[in-house]
Amino acid sequence: MPRDAYLTSTGRFHPPTVVPNSHFYETLGLETDEEWIRSRTGVVTRHFAGDETTGSMGLKAAQQALDKAGLEGSDLDGIILASVTPDLIFPATSGRIQTGLGAEAGWAYDTAAACSGYVYALGQATAMVRSGMADRVMVVGSETMTALLDFRDRTTCVLFGDGAGATLIEACEEPRGGRVVDVIMRTDGNGERHLKQPAGGSELPPSHETVDQRLHYVKQEGRTVFKHAVTRICEVVTQVLERNGSTNDDIALFVPHQANIRIVEACGRRLKIPPEKLVVTVDRWANTTAATIPTSLDLALEEGRVKPGDKVVMATFGAGFTWGAALLQY
Ligand code: UT7
Repeated sequence: MPRDAYLTSTGRFHPPTVVPNSHFYETLGLETDEEWIRSRTGVVTRHFAGDETTGSMGLKAAQQALDKAGLEGSDLDGIILASVTPDLIFPATSGRIQTGLGAEAGWAYDTAAACSGYVYALGQATAMVRSGMADRVMVVGSETMTALLDFRDRTTCVLFGDGAGATLIEACEEPRGGRVVDVIMRTDGNGERHLKQPAGGSELPPSHETVDQRLHYVKQEGRTVFKHAVTRICEVVTQVLERNGSTNDDIALFVPHQANIRIVEACGRRLKIPPEKLVVTVDRWANTTAATIPTSLDLALEEGRVKPGDKVVMATFGAGFTWGAALLQY
């Protein structure tokens, strides 16, 4: 008999260096301005990692989630880190989080589904808990996007930031936190050409040429990705609601991926979710890829925006293309 999985605790960490938009036009001298960045993306500030890494930020967020739950690392069965910016190509950065938490009794692995990484990892953890394969899994989204940004490319470098969010997924005797009702994961590999890091993998290993051609940085056709993001997010939210007997009106809080305020607002309009039910953090944290959803959920919970009985929907879209949605019942 499958058990329910509950999201019972959250944590987040953003590195202390806060970078305003003026950094790009005043300090770096790029041809951009405050008005363009704010009106086209919604970003006002973002955090840069400095001495932190994906592993160190993920550890801090996960430790916070454990502390809030009153648990120790040894209480965890496993850790899944969603990230496209691991500390090393291998071994997995989640191993560093495991060591830091003192969670050596279990397993740890990384998963890469870009901006959808957190929702995918949540889906994996939920399936493990429901099946009885694990009782408690820490799901972390952590990114050092600054490692992949071309600070000469104004079309991408202004969009992203660094940070980490964590959520604890567990089996509970009595309902606690948010029951993970459903998770949908979708991929269309044809989307690869529109958003990627071309070099550094086994197809184009690092070489003088790849570095000279700046191929280790994020390349994005923004307009194409934008259109797909709105369509796919709306589709998958509708699907997750319909297949669980709910409608848009039942949503108490919508936690979308934070790539662009215009995507968040367009999805809100199309799905008829009023602005007060949208969580927006892209203004302060920018796009932190796999970290946007767990950090935004943590903030919303901290602000008391979720009450018992509420249905919370998370939805995402990113490189791959990958997209997905999750429905939580508090
Ligand atoms: O998280 C993963 C998924 N990613 C996303 O969901 C991102 C989706 N895309 C977007 O958010 C938007 O497409 C962007 C924010 C990336 C770009 O906004 P846009 O309204 O689609 O702009 P655009 O790419 O169509 O560019 C419009 C103009 C261009 O100039 P021309 O060709 O019209 O002369 C760009 O060169 O804006 C120019 N531009 C800039 N101007 C000032 C592009 N970047 C900048 C900039 N400052 N930073």
